[in-house]
Amino acid sequence: MERILITSAIPYINGIKHLGNLVGSQLPADLYARYMRARGHEVLFLCATDEHGTPAELAAAKAGKPVEEFCAEMHQVQARLAEGFRLSFDHFGRSSSAENRALTQHFAGRLADAGLIEERSERQVYSKADGRFLPDRYIEGTCPNCGYDKARGDQCENCTKQLDPTDLIEPRSAISGSTDLEVRETKHLYLRQSLLRDDLDAWIDSQKDWPILTTSIAKKWLHDGDGLQDRGITRDLSWGVPVRKGDQEWPGMEGKVFYVWFDAPIEYIASANEWTNARGAGDAEWERWWRTDKGAGDVRYVQFMGKDNVPFHTLSFPATIMGSREPWKLVDYIKSFNYLNYDGGQFSTSQGRGIFQDQALELLPADYWRWWLLSHAPENSDSEFTWENFQAGVNKDLADVLGNFVSRVTKFARSKFGEVVPQGGAFGAAETALIAELETRVRAYEVHMQAMEIRKSAAELRAIWVLGNEYLQAAAPWSVFKTDPDQAAAIVRLSLNLIRLYAVLSAPFIPDAAARLFSAMNTMDVDWPTDVASALEALAPGHEFAVPEVLFAKISDEDRDDWQARFSGTRD
Ligand code: 2FM
Ligand code: ZN
Repeated sequence: MERILITSAIPYINGIKHLGNLVGSQLPADLYARYMRARGHEVLFLCATDEHGTPAELAAAKAGKPVEEFCAEMHQVQARLAEGFRLSFDHFGRSSSAENRALTQHFAGRLADAGLIEERSERQVYSKADGRFLPDRYIEGTCPNCGYDKARGDQCENCTKQLDPTDLIEPRSAISGSTDLEVRETKHLYLRQSLLRDDLDAWIDSQKDWPILTTSIAKKWLHDGDGLQDRGITRDLSWGVPVRKGDQEWPGMEGKVFYVWFDAPIEYIASANEWTNARGAGDAEWERWWRTDKGAGDVRYVQFMGKDNVPFHTLSFPATIMGSREPWKLVDYIKSFNYLNYDGGQFSTSQGRGIFQDQALELLPADYWRWWLLSHAPENSDSEFTWENFQAGVNKDLADVLGNFVSRVTKFARSKFGEVVPQGGAFGAAETALIAELETRVRAYEVHMQAMEIRKSAAELRAIWVLGNEYLQAAAPWSVFKTDPDQAAAIVRLSLNLIRLYAVLSAPFIPDAAARLFSAMNTMDVDWPTDVASALEALAPGHEFAVPEVLFAKISDEDRDDWQARFSGTRD
């Protein structure tokens, strides 16, 4: 038995996430967590909301609420949606927690003690009307290059020229529109990541098994251009973790907070601390997952995230951990994802384009989405959601293959033998061949699941379902029954057991359907089939079962067209 720590990138608090966000980290992380638990490993699966930064402040202002209140509400909303999608977090924390505040300040103190933090003076735009410094992208004006009048302080989105806020003609605050701006001197802390370049380089080189997507992004940031830049880790904002050196004041840093990307990954650790505090358990409980001097030496730590998050997880966060000179657990494996596109374009939170988590759950139960999204995970390239494709995946895989098998077997069994597993005779050649083929496929499924090859795992699971259908079609117990009821009974006995086996194997992908199958098969035996032949004897003759309600309803062409039209515009 291994101990596996799993984190999913923590979603921003500023709005309800779309399905692209879900499949880019939380959902595959959940698949892996469920699988590893099913295999008997000890798993700690953590996530949280990413609550600091300007976007959170602005979203709260837009909602007309104090930022603390907005974040508390949105955290509840996201937590409920996570439950709705059956994300099996052991803890869903908040980066604004007291635990994260203390840990973030602790890390900053350690980094300062190690000589890895430098104070720098900067000139930054201050808006008198807004009473605050403005981050570059909250300054708008006319592009000096192309004349576009909504260019942002960091870049003109019309001609793509990189800009400095001071380049803009007639700059104004994107928050209030005020032009009463001035450049003021302000001090910030910089993390001297460049001093850790060799350590990071060696560490990344030692990760022989990382996916290419992860390593190539890390290496690009480490070596391209000027290489690893020192990074500003403080901001002139009021919402965030106050800048302190451990539990000491940090002279000159009063009123400033840490940059959201500094405290967000530290929340992976803090979430574990929140988890124990919520249960009144001691620190040793979470430290055995995170401190290699306190038992985490044999933990395998796996992170899931979209590709845009990779630089922060391969460089910045490891720099924080290494630079602390304390024995914190470093990540062992980073599974990263490309993007899921929506119907010929991109999913977009800011433009409200695509399907959002709350909307998805209003249309269909979680398993429909889980199955389609995971079986189309954007692993090796971007993938695309279209309503035709979604309909086809649900109808073929879930309704025609798995659902149909369950329905035919249970209904036929009930009609001929009542709602008990019949005895029947010995298995013949067809059954022996099926068992052998299942044995091979189940082992292949395990290999793909272990390797987090999500699409390959889904394809293998689908093939396992198909085997059952093909077997049933060929064995035709409804015909055999007329001449040899005993043999028909054996076919049914095997098929009912297959339903239980399918529930075990499918649970990581479609946990609700699996739970319904277990309950229909009237069993609590969820043991992983380390030997298929004996797994197919778990339900003994005489064992009672029930015919379940339709497992998966088909999506009609009308529904598909209706949904496509409904989700073709943007959400307000
Ligand atoms: O991209 C995002 O959604 C970020 N909120 C992810 C943060 S992951 C981590 F570092 F905490
Ligand atoms: Zn321009």
